[in-house]
Amino acid sequence: MKRHLPSRREVAPLLRFKRPELSRKARRLEKAPPIDDLRRVAKRRTPKPAFDYTDGAADGEVSLTRVREAFANVEVHPSILRDVSQVDTSREVLGKRVALPFGIAPTGFTRMMQAEGEIAGATAAAAAGIPFSLSTMGTTSIEDVDAAASR
Ligand SMILES: Cc1cc2nc3c(=O)[nH]c(=O)nc-3n(C[C@H](O)[C@H](O)[C@H](O)COP(=O)(O)O)c2cc1C
Repeated sequence: MKRHLPSRREVAPLLRFKRPELSRKARRLEKAPPIDDLRRVAKRRTPKPAFDYTDGAADGEVSLTRVREAFANVEVHPSILRDVSQVDTSREVLGKRVALPFGIAPTGFTRMMQAEGEIAGATAAAAAGIPFSLSTMGTTSIEDVDAAASR
């Protein structure tokens, strides 16, 4: 029998070596991957009025409940041995091609929740190639959001 020893290149991805993360913020966020964990972190660290405004939904929270139910009902069906080298998730939104079929919805008083506010949202949306919408109750001017998204 001839033994085949794996090469370093074959083994390295399985060992999942990670470069040390220098940013404290990034390290903290890495430890809280699901949104429920992020919510728990936010609840501990955020003043109550700001947390409640962000965490709550409109009136009886009927549409929030429906959205959560719809999301919980999504099932993932694994498909094995399919060619996924040419997946196209882009869609046309308002006459423009966007990378994914969703965008960032408007939020009022955004900088009350996080100091970078709309700039952070618009920058992340631009990096992901998805739309960002600015609330009429936004805390950053249209010009500054546009500049951040075009950087
Ligand atoms: C904290 C917060 C502030 C919001 N502010 C606005 C707003 O100023 N204008 C608006 O049209 N929608 C506002 N919304 C509604 C969102 O844009 C969005 O429609 C809603 O959250 C449903 O989307 P989701 O399921 O992705 O959260 C706000 C939602 C949240 C959670």
